[in-house]
Formats: sequence, structure tokens, C-alpha cells
Amino acid sequence: MTALPPGPAPPPAAQTVRWLLRPISFLESCRRRFGDTFSVDFLGFRTPMVLLSDPETIRDLYTTRGHTLPPGRAFALRPIMGARSLLLLEGDEHLERRRVMLPPFHGERMRAYETTVREVVARDVETWPVGQPFALHPHMQAVTLEVILRAVFGVTDGEHRRRLAEPLGRLLRDTSSLGLQFAFVLMRRLGGPDPLERLSELRAEIDALLAEEIAARRDDPRDDILSLLVAARFEDGEPMPDGEIRDQLMTLLLAGHETTATGLAWTFDLLLRHPQVLAELIRAVDEGDDAYVRAVVSESLRLRPVVPIGGRRLGSELRVDGHVLPAGTDVSPAIWLAHTRAQTYPEPYAFRPERFLDGAPSTYEWIPFGGGVRRCIGAAFAEMEMRVALAEILRRRTLSPASGRAERVARRNVTFSPRGGTRVVAVPRG
Ligand code: HEM
Repeated sequence: MTALPPGPAPPPAAQTVRWLLRPISFLESCRRRFGDTFSVDFLGFRTPMVLLSDPETIRDLYTTRGHTLPPGRAFALRPIMGARSLLLLEGDEHLERRRVMLPPFHGERMRAYETTVREVVARDVETWPVGQPFALHPHMQAVTLEVILRAVFGVTDGEHRRRLAEPLGRLLRDTSSLGLQFAFVLMRRLGGPDPLERLSELRAEIDALLAEEIAARRDDPRDDILSLLVAARFEDGEPMPDGEIRDQLMTLLLAGHETTATGLAWTFDLLLRHPQVLAELIRAVDEGDDAYVRAVVSESLRLRPVVPIGGRRLGSELRVDGHVLPAGTDVSPAIWLAHTRAQTYPEPYAFRPERFLDGAPSTYEWIPFGGGVRRCIGAAFAEMEMRVALAEILRRRTLSPASGRAERVARRNVTFSPRGGTRVVAVPRG
């Protein structure tokens, strides 16, 4: 009853290469052989990681307090996000930050940010080539970066925004390459120097710019998330120190920009391969049928979850599929597999937004934003941004695919992203 679940036999190096280069075929071949629960062995990890995809086990994992993070997360994220990042803190410190950081991402505030998204998308669409193939993903990245700079950082002046967007864009590009991911793994194995060392100058430049923004918002608060963080108080009445605000800003930027852009790029790829769904979505946008637009976003995040896994190190034992995983085991929901489970979703590979109109899946069946005490704090923001961007684009442009082939999955940092950047042909809507 205590052995870890079985998993693929090849050595860790071979499993790591398959995970980095062909993640979906790797995950699905493991599911075919071992079922919902299996162990994988990646380079640089002390012990195997157990992947789960059945909703009850995922519920047990997410609802138990006291699990910690596998050390790989801090290794990869700390150099860029900083040690006080919400994504890296644990226990009470983590919960207290969530309490302070969640309110700006909920309720009425979301409505105020809709206008920002609408304006940013409308302006970006004007730069699209007409009748010529182009990749949509970089445009979605530009949009989501600008939305974060405006809504989260509160940088509204164009010149000022460019000054920040340039080094941040460079940092995001430099840290998402596969080469760097390999370097991470290799350096870690060999105990060599931190591969992010060479980015330290760029980080210093960005830190200085962020310090200016934090000071400016302290003197003159506005209607943005940074102003709310500056004004927030912990239970003991203390404010968040500037260095930590810096870490949370980088966290919100890095967690919220690429993910949402990728979610949009996948949604368009799916729509272009399913003309009936696209036609129905255009009708819904024209008639203001918000339920269908929401359903398209949910179905797209189901079939193409942007973040494939989100690991935990067990703080107490977890019973799963006849195994008792001891405290200390690294475990993660395999979000992609959980979303394509035939027992949960009939015809799981069909793109069918109607499934979300007929009744939502249960909390632990649909987990593109994770769950429990680490569930994504930007989920409502991301869904709003995706809905508004979809509607704004479809009101302005008629889109067709630039190639007959659906996009394949490529890994970009912690995300699964469309390998070819979702190439489309767009013409103004007549
Ligand atoms: C489609 C877009 C997005 C997806 C798919 C996504 C996905 C996720 C997932 C799966 C997690 C949980 C990680 C874990 O289990 O440890 C997470 C956490 C987080 N996300 Fe998102 N996210 C998206 C957009 C955003 C946005 C727009 C923001 C903010 C502007 C954001 C900020 C965060 C933060 C701060 C956390 C850490 C929460 C914590 O550790 O308590 N995300 N996200």
C-alpha cells in the first residue's frame, strides 16, 4: 500500500527531454499505460513526482492544508519574481498576502478594467496586417502586457509605459526560451552558477523603474492594483514593504501576462478549426449573449489548459488509487489529463462550449486556475480579459486560419503554448 504508483521506465534524462519537447504525447502515453495516477522522474528532482488526474484525488490534495511547494518552483521563479513572491511564500505568510491581494481582483473592480481591455485591444487590432498571414500570439502578448501595465501597475502615460514595457518585454522573452530551461536543469545538476546571473543587469534596471512607480503611487494613489497594495495593511497594521511590493508586481506581471495571452491564442486556434462554434460566438457577441462567450472561454481553458501542472510537496500522507503517498512526496494534478478524462467529459477532445451551458463541471473537474489556497488570484481578471478581447476582436475583424493544421503544443516557461503562434488572416468586418 505504500509504494509510489508505477511510471515510465526510461532514465530521468530521457523523461525530462520528452516532457520538455513532447509534453502531451508524454503525458498521454503515461495515462494509457498507467491510468489516472503515475510517477514521473525528472532530472534535478530528488524523488519521483506523482501526477494525478481524477477529480476526487485532486480535491483531497487541494483541500488539505499544510502541503508545501516542491523546491523546483523557488529555483525557477525566485531569481525573477523575488523571494517574497506570493507564488513562493508558504503557510501563514502566504495566506496573509492572499487576504491583502485578493480584493482588487474581484467584483466591481473587474468592470472598471473592462474599459481598459477594450481600449488596448481596439488599438492593437488597428496595427494588424490586412489580408496577410500573421501570428496572433505576439499581438495577444502585447495586449496583455499593456493591460497589466495599466490596470495593475497603473502606468497610463504612453511614453512612460514604453519605458517600462521595453525592459520587461526583454526579461519575459529571455526567460521563456527552451534553451534557458535546459540550462536550468543542467546547471542544477552540475551545481554550476545560476544561469540567470547574466540577467541581473536587466533586473536592476527594472527594479529601479518599479521603485519609481511604487513611490509615485504612495504620493498619489490612483485606481490601480499597485495603489491598493501600497495602501494595504497586514493584520498587525503594518504596510507591505516596498521590496515586497516589487516582488508581488513582478509576480502579477509574470503570472498574468503570458498565461492570458496564451489562453487567447489557443481560443482563436480552436475557433478557427471549428467554424460553427466561431459563427455561434460571433452571433453571441453581436447579440450580447454573454453566457455563450463565457462558455467558449471555459471550454477553451478546458481543452487547452495553459498551465499544465502545479506541484505540491505533501505535508501529510495522501491516499490515492490504492497507494498511500507519504508526507514529503512531490505531487501535482496533471491539469491537461484531468481535463481530457473521458469519465469526466464525454468525447473529451471535442471543442464544444455547450457543455458549459448545460451545467458547469464540479470544482475539481475544471482546474485551469488550480485550486485550494493557491488557486489563481487573477482567475476572474483573466476570464474577463479573454471575454472582452474575444468580443472586441470579433466585432472588428473577420478571421480565417493561415494554415490547414491545428497548432501543436510547445512549452514556453511554465505554460503550454501554440507552437506556431496561431497564424491567421484578418480582414475588417464588412
Ligand atoms: C488564463 C490565464 C491564467 C491561467 C491559466 C492561470 C493559472 C494559474 C494557476 C494554475 C495557478 C495555481 C498555481 C499553483 O497551483 O500553485 C495560478 C496562480 C496564480 N496566478 Fe494565475 N493564471 C492566469 C492568469 C492570471 C492573472 C491575470 C493574474 C494576475 C494579474 C494571475 C496571478 C496569479 C498569482 C499571483 C498566482 C499565485 C497564487 C498563490 O500562490 O496563492 N494569474 N494561476
